[in-house]
Amino acid sequence: MTAQIIDGKQVAADMRAELKTKVAGLKEKGIVPGLAVVLVGEDPASKSYVTAKERACEEIGIYSNDNCLSADTSQEELMALVDKLNNDPKINGILVQLPLPKHLNESEVLLAIDPKKDVDGFHPINVGKMVVGEEAFLPCTPHGILQLLVRSNVTIEGSEVVVVGRSNIVGKPIANMLIQKSDTGNATVTVCHTRTKNLAEHTLRADIIIAAAGRPDTVTADMVKDGAVVIDVGVNRVEDATKKRGYRLVGDVSFDTVKEKASLITPVPGGVGPMTITMLLFNTVQSAKIAAGL
Ligand code: GUN
Repeated sequence: MTAQIIDGKQVAADMRAELKTKVAGLKEKGIVPGLAVVLVGEDPASKSYVTAKERACEEIGIYSNDNCLSADTSQEELMALVDKLNNDPKINGILVQLPLPKHLNESEVLLAIDPKKDVDGFHPINVGKMVVGEEAFLPCTPHGILQLLVRSNVTIEGSEVVVVGRSNIVGKPIANMLIQKSDTGNATVTVCHTRTKNLAEHTLRADIIIAAAGRPDTVTADMVKDGAVVIDVGVNRVEDATKKRGYRLVGDVSFDTVKEKASLITPVPGGVGPMTITMLLFNTVQSAKIAAGL
């Protein structure tokens, strides 16, 4: 079987067009959603995410407020900025780009963000609400994965899902979302990680594999059941002298061989990536609507 490619760019473009219309409607009511992005330091991958977020905001009409701080910013300075943004009525969403430099206390910063402006869905209040199935801002990458599955008509209910990776940003939340008693849940989920004894034993049983390990070739063709749906969340740089920039991006899945076994597969780039920022825009628009009492 040769897999159909899930075109994340197209799904993201469709959702962004829907959001653009929503934002135009809000503007007629005098409401402009605002997103603040905080970047500490010079990490090139983080910088390129932030630039992409800026562009996406502009594209759909969201006010974007960027705060680029030097790598030696103190905890107090960062906390003061978060406090200022919490109290700024023009700002509906606050995103502090992770990872933060080592000397900063990440959990203290995340805890300081007003949960009503936590469009990343990382505040423990929003995490807790998600886990108990209450309405909350859902973290963007897992929410984007869910949208890709739903919009590709993948059956989630009753499916065996294997998540590879247990990060707070992807693995843990996607596993939680998929076990919810909801229209987009009711799956049987196994979470595998670096201490899993026999990864292939689990992935071979999966109707849906979600690879979020952060390592190329974590999922190879011999680990995939015929007809499985494969979602690749990895973004890894591998050296490539044929490229001008000296590297290319690959996911966690051996794409060329796995696509011959899967029924549906996301590419890297152009799969999950474009959805993450789209869901951030979605949460920001949602937050602006709630703030306006709509
Ligand atoms: N770093 C990598 N992914 C993310 C994300 O979704 N949000 C934030 N804040 N930082 C990230």
